[in-house]
Amino acid sequence: MNTNVWKVDKYVDKLESNPHIVDAAHFLRENEVVALPTETVYGLGGNAENDEAVTKIFAAKGRPADNPLIIHIADKVQLDRFVKEVPEKAKNLIDAFWPGPLTIIFNKKEGVLSEKATAGLSTVAVRMPDHPVALALFRECGLPIAAPSANSSGKPSPTTADHVVDDLNGKIAGVLDAGPTGVGVESTVVDCTEEIPVILRPGGVTKEQLEAVVGEVRVDPALTNTEGDARPKAPGMKYRHYAPNAPLYLVSGTREFLQRLVDEKRQEGMRVGVLTTEEHSAEFAADVVLACGQRAELETVAAALYDTLRKFNQVDVDVIFSEMFPTSGVGLAIMNRLQKAAGNKIISE
Ligand code: TXA
Ligand code: MG
Repeated sequence: MNTNVWKVDKYVDKLESNPHIVDAAHFLRENEVVALPTETVYGLGGNAENDEAVTKIFAAKGRPADNPLIIHIADKVQLDRFVKEVPEKAKNLIDAFWPGPLTIIFNKKEGVLSEKATAGLSTVAVRMPDHPVALALFRECGLPIAAPSANSSGKPSPTTADHVVDDLNGKIAGVLDAGPTGVGVESTVVDCTEEIPVILRPGGVTKEQLEAVVGEVRVDPALTNTEGDARPKAPGMKYRHYAPNAPLYLVSGTREFLQRLVDEKRQEGMRVGVLTTEEHSAEFAADVVLACGQRAELETVAAALYDTLRKFNQVDVDVIFSEMFPTSGVGLAIMNRLQKAAGNKIISE
């Protein structure tokens, strides 16, 4: 299959009449799949009401069938079609954060969406992304769009159209290229089917921001309990994810300690990579040192994280050591993704 790359300027006023968006919407209505930009990462979209389209999404990514997709909408009124009820707290979260990087789990109305999209669950994850190109596309095709991140399963999520092409070229009808995404980590997934909302995946909207709107919010215990066999409630969180090719270790301790680990491995003849931030990158002596944003502004670390992990695959290293980050604000999502990328390998001083 020929994969079209459609360049779209997201700052143009009349996106609705953009011929590339009209083309992409046409493919979606024909039950083909196309990649699209959101404010978090690029998604791989398909008609959420059609089994054939959803099957193509799973096939292109190589995604396990038990991992449900997020349904994307352009307008709150679309919720009514496939959601049973919108609880009071969910209403408040919608008013505060949509469009934006927040996915909400609802009880599902049966018989509307493809069963494959929700992996046969009685619940459904929904979000309205804050990206003019995504919203124009959804409005143009008039369908609820199932869209996981547009990477091959297991790889870091794509934050540029180039990342999408690297993973999915020849497997999808096209990608709308609107430049790098802003947030860089995926949406926060919050379960609103229970009285107290539960974060199933930390992301672009922080726990602190959610609590300011609805009071107490819990975090799925399986996310912090990395030793036991607690089963995460978001099926996708149980898979190893985001991993670069070389083994990645998170280092808890001083920068001198991290440098000693680097020196030991180099003495053994290994090529060593370091994942750090702009503030400290000049302090390390290693074969490859990559700065991932600025530690003083964790949003910049989130924005650069997946591109940095992907860059380690383009250089020749045998092992990677990474600094750790505070878990406040978007740091919770950054550390969650780094821990998954490292397969929970942490070396403490
Ligand atoms: O920012 C994002 O959310 C991006 C962009 C493209 O919108 N999408 C994304 O989708 O990250 P995906 O498929 O890569 O991750 C969806 C996560 C998975 O961990 C999945 O298991 C979980 O949401 N999920 C989906 N439906 C669920 C449900 N009904 N109950 C619990 N978890 C669910
Ligand atoms: Mg994903």
